[in-house]
Amino acid sequence: MADVLILPETQERSTRFEALIPQLRALVGAEPDPVANMANVAAVLKEAFGWHWVGFYRVVGEELVLGPFQGPLACTRITFGKGVCGTAWKEDRTVLVPDVDRFPGHIACSALSRSEIVVPIHDGTDRVVAVLDIDSVVLADFTDQDRKHLEEIGTLLDKLFA
Ligand code: SME
Repeated sequence: MADVLILPETQERSTRFEALIPQLRALVGAEPDPVANMANVAAVLKEAFGWHWVGFYRVVGEELVLGPFQGPLACTRITFGKGVCGTAWKEDRTVLVPDVDRFPGHIACSALSRSEIVVPIHDGTDRVVAVLDIDSVVLADFTDQDRKHLEEIGTLLDKLFA
């Protein structure tokens, strides 16, 4: 498998996402296992954008359980509706948090996180089966463009959980 081409940081983040997404589509399309794909997507996003923490939590019963990730040690279990991740799962929507200190119930796995975005991942019947969670050390790091691109990456994974 060829390396993923990552555009330099001098390019707009949006341009860098646009170069990355077709490569992720090809990567994910070549491998049917969702865990293998979550692992590579987390690795590529971490390498490309350098965020503090990039990873997945999987829905297991009434909880989210830590899945493949890149970054420091993280909480292993999150209850339905709790924290940013549990809220994204319960409300089935992307939750973009510009300032984690202003999000009631935010679960601080790392004291360094300042902003966060969580995107739900679905199966073939539209149930939430996992979330993609990204933490940044930069306040208000995530934009609506990032949301759009990360949701697109989320949909690449959706069909693997059929
Ligand atoms: N901050 C998250 C918990 C997961 S960590 O950020 C990796 C939350 O509030 O759900």
